[in-house]
This record gives sequence, C-alpha cells and structure tokens, in this order.
Amino acid sequence: MTRAIYPGSFDPPTNGHLDVVARAARCFDQLIVAVVVNPQKHNPMFSLEEREAMLRDCVAHLPNVRVEHFRGLLAEYVKRSDADVIVKGLRVVSDFETEMSLAMMNRSLSDVDTFFLMSDPGYSFVSSSLVKEVFFLGGEVSTLVPSPVLRVMDAKRTAR
Ligand code: PNS
Repeated sequence: MTRAIYPGSFDPPTNGHLDVVARAARCFDQLIVAVVVNPQKHNPMFSLEEREAMLRDCVAHLPNVRVEHFRGLLAEYVKRSDADVIVKGLRVVSDFETEMSLAMMNRSLSDVDTFFLMSDPGYSFVSSSLVKEVFFLGGEVSTLVPSPVLRVMDAKRTAR
C-alpha cells in the first residue's frame, strides 16, 4: 500500500490544488492532504480550522483522501505518518527551482522522495495569494476556487 502526503498552506485551497489532489489520489492508495500549522510565509487569512473544513468539503467524494494538519518539519510528519512520498504540484519553472531544494532537503532529512505533478495549464497562473487579492478587490474568482471555498470567502467578505 502506498501512502502519499500533499502538504501546503491552502490559504485558501484553489482549483489548482484540487486538481493535484484528484490526480494524486489516482496514483496512490492513500493520500493525506496536510495543512501546515503556522505557515512561515504569512499570517494566514483563513484559520487552520477553516482551511481543514474547506478541504474536507472539497475531497468528500474521494474515498482514499483524508485531510490532516501538521506542525514543525514536514520530513518528521512524513515519518510519523508512515508515508512513502510527498506530492507537490509544479505550475511554472520558478516553482521547480524552489521545490527542488525543498525536495532535496526533505530527502536528506528523512529519506523521503517527492513526486511532482505538472499543473493543469488552465491553473498555472492560479495561486492562493492572487486569488485572495483579486477577491478582496472585488474581482471574479468563481472559476478559480471550488464552491465550498467560495462560500467561506463570501462569508468572510460580508463579515468585514
Ligand atoms: O502551500 P505552501 O505554502 O507552498 O506549502 C509550503 C509547505 C507547507 C509545503 C512548506 O512550507 C513546508 O514543508 N513547511 C513545513 C516546515 C518544513 O518542513 N520546512 C522545511 C522544508 S524543506
């Protein structure tokens, strides 16, 4: 049995993330979508609970996918989870440059390999940060995020 971990901030999950989830779920027996606690890049706009709940709604139709969270080193979490590989999506060449270092570091830390899926070209420009910026400036993002995510985003905008 193969178990893969797809880690990320998912702040919020996008259609690009969900495309990677669906395709990775076909490649591995079990896929854990793992939300990092306290991502280092930024203060998340969505709480950990919101990010996990949005993801659970989005993957409910995929029986071999579950959503968890982790804190600390990904390499340690992979070992604790008895997982075989890390899965990452690559949108553009600059993603590769960053991800190559991360993959090599994770391999040196816990001897785990990283499998890369090329993004669907239709999502190669989609990132969580751009989605947030466009949305909160009043732009249309309904083709960029799944409907459970759009609902939570709408509620957050209304509450502002
Ligand atoms: O969605 P993101 O923000 O691009 O995901 C980045 C993530 C969570 C995969 C990365 O920041 C990570 O692995 N964080 C855990 C801390 C860690 O292990 N750092 C060393 C990476 S080699």
